[in-house]
Amino acid sequence: MTENHVAQPPPAAVSPQTALPVMLEIAEVRRENATAKTLLISLESAEDQPGLILETFTPGQFVMVWVPRMDEKPYALSYLEEGRAGITVHRRGPFSKRLCEMRAGERIGLRGAYGRGFWDVGERAPGASAAIIGGGCGMAVLAPLAERLPEATLVQGARSADGLFFTDRFPGQVIFTDDGSAGRHGLPTEWLVEAVADGAVEAVYTCGPEPMMARVVELCRGAGLPCQASIERYMKCGIGVCGQCDCDGRRVCVEGPVFSGEELARMPSFGRRRRDKTGRQIPVE
Ligand code: FES
Repeated sequence: MTENHVAQPPPAAVSPQTALPVMLEIAEVRRENATAKTLLISLESAEDQPGLILETFTPGQFVMVWVPRMDEKPYALSYLEEGRAGITVHRRGPFSKRLCEMRAGERIGLRGAYGRGFWDVGERAPGASAAIIGGGCGMAVLAPLAERLPEATLVQGARSADGLFFTDRFPGQVIFTDDGSAGRHGLPTEWLVEAVADGAVEAVYTCGPEPMMARVVELCRGAGLPCQASIERYMKCGIGVCGQCDCDGRRVCVEGPVFSGEELARMPSFGRRRRDKTGRQIPVE
């Protein structure tokens, strides 16, 4: 994984045909923690549907999820397995609450996958020298990446034990909680400070609260380590048309959501400001 010398993948080409949602049935609903569920969606009827192209999926890409008569929002694919794809939903507003109330047999619309996911995965830092650092529901973005890099160190931070994700799915992960109710008391960036000092890490992938990612990027740049971070901005179209997801002139939905540390260093809003759904600039949390 290099940042300056490797051609990065171009934005995905999206035609009007590939921007139509495909209605699919929820096969299973799985509780992940106190406030999050995963909807595992059957792909049985998705074959030959131009709106859903998952054969070329790379971890970090997202789908637009449509609930008819309600809204459409972006979600990372947290699972992609034989015949099923999963989105993991943290309940925090009306749309996510509706998704969390859905049951097996109900149908939702999906289109995608869109955007630039993580690239050159495992090329620069194979195996144990890569670190995947996640916080909160950023773990949903990172989970397929962790499956592709099973020897990487996975570090997860959460407010408390009941907010942790995928502890059974990835049993070897290093856990931090803000209140000390599970794992180490503190922040996952503390692990990175130690790993950098020990020379134990050669590449870092991250997704989570933006202040955490900004610190990860800062630490990596200080140590000369390549880093990729998946950022979140408010999206409407998901295909580069509306401009809603702008971050310092970059359309996060097509040029991201994954950016290198070098790119993020040239984006002054990263770690500081984002736009709400009205387009107003607000501080990142
Ligand atoms: S969400 Fe419309 S341009 Fe990105």
